[in-house]
Amino acid sequence: MFITLEGVDGAGKSSHLAWLEDWFKARGNRVRMTREPGGTPIGEKLRELVLHESMHPETEALIMFAARREHIEQVIRPALAAGEVVISDRFTDASFAYQCGGRGLPEARLAVLESWVHADLQPDVTLLFDLPTEIAARRLANARAPDRFEREQTDFHARVRAAYLRRAECYPQRIKVIDGSRSLEQVRMQLASELAAALESLA
Ligand SMILES: Nc1ncnc2c1ncn2[C@@H]1O[C@H](COP(=O)(O)OP(=O)(O)O)[C@@H](O)[C@H]1O
Ligand SMILES: [Mg+2]
Repeated sequence: MFITLEGVDGAGKSSHLAWLEDWFKARGNRVRMTREPGGTPIGEKLRELVLHESMHPETEALIMFAARREHIEQVIRPALAAGEVVISDRFTDASFAYQCGGRGLPEARLAVLESWVHADLQPDVTLLFDLPTEIAARRLANARAPDRFEREQTDFHARVRAAYLRRAECYPQRIKVIDGSRSLEQVRMQLASELAAALESLA
């Protein structure tokens, strides 16, 4: 099973990684935790570039998919083939949200890259952490030094959020919207119930 976490910066994805890992382990699954951009030695080098160097939006999109190509080959497919649950902190929905919604690239461009890099692979379940961008910004202000994306203006984050929500409307079976504005404990309760329902429907 392939699970992805999505949402604007500061939505709470990373805060729930360890809990999600434990939740699957408690069901008896072997779990492979990973992230994008990154997840492989080459991917982590590309992550450094794309999070910190200025570049054309198309270069940014191409680097994301180059890192993804390596990630799928080295990590995602082997782990799925070995029967592990793969949990990735971001995947292709993030490219549509950030490079199309945020940067304004046409979706058709990314659709070509998506069909090139993973025509026959999609997440089984995507947990989309959604919350107003002001709350996310307030949380991040206390949390960490911002990267290139986190330094963008409010309207950029609002476009990213809207693009994510449009994708959730297009793929309601796969993408589960989680209310990330609530307390950690309330978010966990919603995660547990969405996952239980998703696993039931996949079984
Ligand atoms: N539900 C929540 N309530 C309050 N603070 C939260 C919540 N979820 C995350 N945070 C805090 O917000 C900040 C960003 O969370 P993080 O998990 O790193 O977001 P993301 O990985 O989606 O960018 C962190 O400081 C984290 O402790
Ligand atoms: Mg994170």
